[in-house]
Amino acid sequence: MLEARFSNWKNNPRKWRPGFVAKGIFSVLRQCYETCLEYPEEKRRLQLVAQTRQRLMTPPLEPEYVNILLDNEFADSVAQVKDLTCLDFARLANVWTLARTAGPGIYLEVGSFRGGTALHICNAIADRKAEFFCFDPFEKGGYEKLGELDKWFKPNDFTQTGFERVKGLLSSKPYAKVIQGYFPDAAEGLDLKNIAFCHLDVNTYDATQRSLEFLAPRLSSRGLIVIDDYGMTETPGVVKAVVEFLAIHPSFMLIPMFPVQAVLLPKS
Ligand SMILES: C[S@@+](CC[C@H](N)C(=O)[O-])C[C@H]1O[C@@H](n2cnc3c(N)ncnc32)[C@H](O)[C@@H]1O
Repeated sequence: MLEARFSNWKNNPRKWRPGFVAKGIFSVLRQCYETCLEYPEEKRRLQLVAQTRQRLMTPPLEPEYVNILLDNEFADSVAQVKDLTCLDFARLANVWTLARTAGPGIYLEVGSFRGGTALHICNAIADRKAEFFCFDPFEKGGYEKLGELDKWFKPNDFTQTGFERVKGLLSSKPYAKVIQGYFPDAAEGLDLKNIAFCHLDVNTYDATQRSLEFLAPRLSSRGLIVIDDYGMTETPGVVKAVVEFLAIHPSFMLIPMFPVQAVLLPKS
């Protein structure tokens, strides 16, 4: 990790600016402190994995060719949501691009936690006047059912949020509705059809499986589902649910995406 930071610093044209150097030194010291003194064993193990994998990420991105980095609306949205979302920069870029690519219809998010990606999606489609619904148990969360593939999670994970708080966050979005409860049961009574886009971010087997079964027949012909955590070591239940879904529904196809997402869409 320190090696990667040093190389980022070396390649940065602002590397000798006093504010930049001071910020860098502070952040390295904080990282060392957290690693050595504060983190429990499991987090330190994960940090080691991250360090090893960081070294494998070569060749690096070439920012001069990545156009989304010049998209001010995207940059503003990322700045707005970065402390409210679990997604990294690459996944936020994928969600942004795909939300704008989807055909006409309504927009959904299943699994919204603090509302970061919900707001990001609303920002991406601000000029569409498309209805947007997001679902989460919020403070009453986190998971309705955990199975043997969901060992990474505990029933009351992701409760450090609030329904009213997320409603407030999206209050400037006239077409957005925040629904508290477990999907798909929480969608009962709503007329959800012609779905253009759904961001499905529920981490676990049962919630992914039930959500896909609900969403598939309601997707529009150019609709798509972006599945988060696809291929992540800690969420094998997501892959299992998707693989089973594809076996039962051969009219759908899956496109895995870097780093840990996939797009599910009708072959037609
Ligand atoms: C990783 S968090 C979502 C993060 C959010 N998309 C972001 O990055 O801004 C996963 C969320 O899914 C919620 N969840 C789990 N099962 C669900 C279900 N059946 N319906 C709706 N939300 C669910 C959890 O309570 C948790 O808040």
